[in-house]
Amino acid sequence: MKVGIDSISFYTSHYFIDLKSLAEKRNVEFNKFYLGIGQEKMAVPPPDEDIVTMGANAAHQALQDVNKEDIKVVIFATESGIDQSKSAGIYLHRLLGLSSHCRVIEAKQACYSATFGVIFARSYVQNYPDSKVLVVASDVARYGIGSVGEPTQGAGAVAMVLSANPRLLELDPESGCYTEDVMDFWRPNYRDEALVDGKASIRIYLKALAEAWHQYHLKSGRQYTDFVRFCYHMPFSRMAEKAHVQMMKIACGPGCIEEEALKLIEESLLYGRTLGNSYTASLYIGLASLLENSPLDLAGNRIGFFSYGSGCVAEFFSGIVKEGYQKHLHKAAHQQMLNTRVELSYEEYENFYNFALPQDGSACRLAQHETGLFRLAGINEHKRLYENLG
Ligand code: HMG
Repeated sequence: MKVGIDSISFYTSHYFIDLKSLAEKRNVEFNKFYLGIGQEKMAVPPPDEDIVTMGANAAHQALQDVNKEDIKVVIFATESGIDQSKSAGIYLHRLLGLSSHCRVIEAKQACYSATFGVIFARSYVQNYPDSKVLVVASDVARYGIGSVGEPTQGAGAVAMVLSANPRLLELDPESGCYTEDVMDFWRPNYRDEALVDGKASIRIYLKALAEAWHQYHLKSGRQYTDFVRFCYHMPFSRMAEKAHVQMMKIACGPGCIEEEALKLIEESLLYGRTLGNSYTASLYIGLASLLENSPLDLAGNRIGFFSYGSGCVAEFFSGIVKEGYQKHLHKAAHQQMLNTRVELSYEEYENFYNFALPQDGSACRLAQHETGLFRLAGINEHKRLYENLG
């Protein structure tokens, strides 16, 4: 039985800052951001937007033509948790009106956890073919103001329904994974901003890619030329390009040309370049970007995926695009969302960044911004209050 991605949709904040504005404040030539790291805009969530509202907006769209009663498991993947106990997925479960006979769990391993969700869902659906699994990945990438990671911030969520006989992509059974205890990027419980050893993180990402690919290749026997496109975890678009060039060198050999190779990832980079890092959502926003923007009919062709989560766990896996997949994408909704975003001044970005909810249990009702169908209305007695605006 074939199992894979039946539906995919993503969501990002209505607000962004252009990295030219950030560059000006930081006294940096803007092409360092535009070309050097390959990023143009960075999504910035307003105070009444968080991983739950972004995830619920993405999932609402992904579930448009799916029977909600069929969803038997929700995996909410995030490293921007809002509670140390309760899964963010339970808020989302209520906001979306999912069945009470459904398991809900939150998964964490930096940017890798959504991939765990996908791989777990594949096995679950193989055991229970009538069931569907909703994998939601939602994150807000926050580094310190003025820190080296600042231009690689961002925010976004992706939601995918995994099912038998999927309409978009059938997952192959083989994958290669790699785990190593490293301190390239981490966020202790007492901090709101991640800490990072930027240069080391790039080296470890590339090492993990080589190791995961090697294992995948041994298990599947597949070669570089078996793939029509590749999608990479994308903290910034130049990282995905560096990764793919390394991949080409390892797997394709001397006959391959860098410019040609980079064409195999270019459509997957489009959305992320204007959202910034969405951590565990980013690989799958890359998949949506590829499926929705490729001029090539990808049906029947194999895509390679590389998932990387600092710390680190990485996985290389693959899937085959289904015939007629174009009919089941949410491209128009995504384009509309991206085209109607509002640009923030540097000062507005800092205001959003610095906003903090009260931590003493006092009540706080939040001013309303554009947050799609769902919003965080406030907090009272340490309880987050979400509203469905639909
Ligand atoms: P930096 O020190 O500010 O930048 O850090 P740089 O000096 O290395 O410059 C970056 C590039 O811009 C260089 O190109 C420069 O030459 C170029 P490269 O050598 O890389 O090809 N450059 C210019 N280009 C054109 N015009 C100019 C110009 N000036 C310079 N005027 C760094 C950059 C990415 C390290 C930093 O932003 C950072 O630490 N980011 C966060 C960490 C990160 O994203 N790591 C990626 C791998 S780890 C990962 O992906 C996991 C993660 O998503 C977290 C998770 O798993 O949860 C982060």
